[in-house]
Amino acid sequence: MKPAFPSAASAAPAGGSIGPVPRHVAIIMDGNGRWAKARRLPRVAGHRQGIEAVRRTIRAAGDLGIEALTLYAFSSENWRRPAAEIADLMGLLRHYIKSELNELAREGVRLRIIGDYRKLEPDLVRMLDDAVERTANNTRLTLAIALNYGAQDELLRAARRLMREARAGEVDPDTLDDAAFEARLDTVGLPRLDLLIRTSGEQRLSNFLLWQAAYAELIFTDTLWPDFDREHLVAAIETFGQRERRYGGL
Ligand code: IPE
Ligand code: IPE
Ligand code: MG
Repeated sequence: MKPAFPSAASAAPAGGSIGPVPRHVAIIMDGNGRWAKARRLPRVAGHRQGIEAVRRTIRAAGDLGIEALTLYAFSSENWRRPAAEIADLMGLLRHYIKSELNELAREGVRLRIIGDYRKLEPDLVRMLDDAVERTANNTRLTLAIALNYGAQDELLRAARRLMREARAGEVDPDTLDDAAFEARLDTVGLPRLDLLIRTSGEQRLSNFLLWQAAYAELIFTDTLWPDFDREHLVAAIETFGQRERRYGGL
């Protein structure tokens, strides 16, 4: 049988002393609302501060030699929030892409979007497509932003696509393997997920990367997302380096 899980972690970059660096890190950026509440500020202030944490984390991830960083920004269930908060979040996203695109390009960041983001407002979809295209040749860090993302929705979309392809005679159900299935997921082409971090103390996946997290190491931290910085990322990577990954073997 083929080894399903080749060694995922690469060596630390030159000068690095924090141990093996995960190739692909995903973060459930949670706790913006509680950060604001603790300061008697409106929730949007927490989201605004959360964007600062996004900037810090992207910079640190690039510096540390992480290949891919996937950030959960808006879930397919977040539509259940009040319309005003959804509008605030979309407004901040718009502002972030506009103000940050040059900086991302300068830092060698290749942008990807995962999730059913085409259901967002048309101008935002255009802006995202344009940003993805403009950064397509960058190689330092792949930044995947999850927008209108839900893992069950991603799996369903992949299943529907496969069934259509099977009906058209383009795939053979009897020989479909994990690689062919993964090729239909939003994360196609990203390295295998090594480390999944969730901030704010909640210990659940909230419909994030259910397939991809199969053998990811999970780290839950009480830090609220707006307080997350380079040191928190380094600490998570150090913890990751101490984990023994067995993939079901010995
Ligand atoms: C995470 O912070 C950001 C998004 C889900 C968009 P929350 O808004 O969920 O913050 P809490 O969980 O209410 O503190
Ligand atoms: C998960 O956080 C989604 C994002 C961080 C974008 P939520 O705050 O929506 O998750 P639940 O509702 O606490 O599970
Ligand atoms: Mg939350």
